[in-house]
Amino acid sequence: MIDDLAPKPADPLLKIIKMFSDDPRSDKIDLGVGVYRDENGATPIMAAVKEAERRLLAEQRTKTYVGQQGDAAFLQLLGEFAFAGAARDLVSIQTVGGTGALRLGFDFLRAAGAKRVLLPTPSWANHPGLITAAGLQQIDVQFFDVAAQRIDISPLLEAIARLSPGDTVLLQGCCHNPLGADFDPAQWAALAKACTAARVVAFVDVAYLGFGDGLARDGDGVRHILAHTSNVVVSVSAAKSFGVYRERVGALYVKSAPAARAAVQSNLFALARSNYSMPPDHGAACVGMVLADPALRAMWADELEAIRSHILKTRAALAAATINALPMQLIAKQKGMFSTLPLTPAQIDTLRVTYGIYMTDSGRINVAGLPEADMARFLEALRAVTG
Ligand code: LMR
Repeated sequence: MIDDLAPKPADPLLKIIKMFSDDPRSDKIDLGVGVYRDENGATPIMAAVKEAERRLLAEQRTKTYVGQQGDAAFLQLLGEFAFAGAARDLVSIQTVGGTGALRLGFDFLRAAGAKRVLLPTPSWANHPGLITAAGLQQIDVQFFDVAAQRIDISPLLEAIARLSPGDTVLLQGCCHNPLGADFDPAQWAALAKACTAARVVAFVDVAYLGFGDGLARDGDGVRHILAHTSNVVVSVSAAKSFGVYRERVGALYVKSAPAARAAVQSNLFALARSNYSMPPDHGAACVGMVLADPALRAMWADELEAIRSHILKTRAALAAATINALPMQLIAKQKGMFSTLPLTPAQIDTLRVTYGIYMTDSGRINVAGLPEADMARFLEALRAVTG
C-alpha cells in the first residue's frame, strides 16, 4: 500500500525555492517565496526579537507544557494589537503559524456544520489546499483583473449574496497575497453588509500587519468586519510582522455570543489536541515579550516601519519604470510584499531560464525581496521578455 502511493505535484510556491536553490548562477534573483529582505538581500532577526530571545534564554526555568490554549498573554497582546477593543469578545487559541490557524479555522467551521467556502481569486496558492483538506467545498469568484490590476467588488458581493447561511467567505485583511490590492473602507463596509445580510461567516486571514499603511491602519478592514458582522473567524500570522517565519507563530480568534464561548473554546481545544496537541512556545513567547515591554515594543515598531519604508521605496522604483505595456505605475498603489504582473507562462519561464529571475507561475513577485542592486537587471529582463 505504501509502495503504491502516487507522487503528489510539487507545491507551487515551495517548488520555486527549490528551483532557485538548484540554479548555480551567482547573479540569480529570488522573487519567489514571501520573505522580506533588506538592502543587502538579508533577512536578519529583528533586534527587538533577538533581545527577547536573549531574555527568554536567561529567564526561562522550565520547558513543561504551556497548556491547551497556548500562551494566554501572547494571545491577548496579539489580539489587542490586531483588533484593539474588539479583542475582548473573541475566543482565541495559539496555532502553528498562520497556516495552522487557517487549517484549524476551517476544521472548526466544518465541525460546526459549514460546507462551502467562497474564495475570492486569485488568492494565496495554499488556500485551496487548506480548504479541501478540511473537507470543505471551494467556490471560486474572480474579484481582480490582473491585466488591468483592478479590484472588481461586484462579482464578489453578488457571490456572497448567493451563499447560504453558514457558508464562509475567505477575505485577506491587508497586503493581499498575491495581488497587493486591498479593499478600501467603502468596500470593507459593503463586504460586512453582504456577510451580515447573507448570514455567512467572514473568515479574515491577517498575515502582514505593519507592511501596508502601517501598524495603526493595517487592521482597519478586519476591525470593521469584527464590529459590523456577527460570525467572524480571524487567523493571524506573526511570521512577517515579527520576522519569525520558521518559529511558526500564529493564532486563531473566533467571535461568538458570550453564552457560546466556552463551547467554542472547547471545540478548538479538541481539534488542536487531535492534531498537534499543543502549539510550539518559543516564537510566541518572544513575540509576547516584545509586545508586553514598552521599550522592546517601540524598538520593534521602528524596525517594522523601516521594513515598510524599504518596501515603499522598492515599489516607487518599480512604478517609475516604463516596461512596454505593463501597468507598472499601479505597483506604487499596491500594498505589502506582493504584486502580480500580467505575464504569460512563457515570459515567466524565459525570466527563469534565460535571466535567472524566479517568481511564481502566476507572475507574483515578492517586491519585498528585490535588492536595490538587482533592480536595473530585473527591469531590463522584464523589458526584454515583454518587448
Ligand atoms: C508566501 O506566500 O510566499 C508565504 O506565505 C510563504 C508560504 O508558506 O507560502
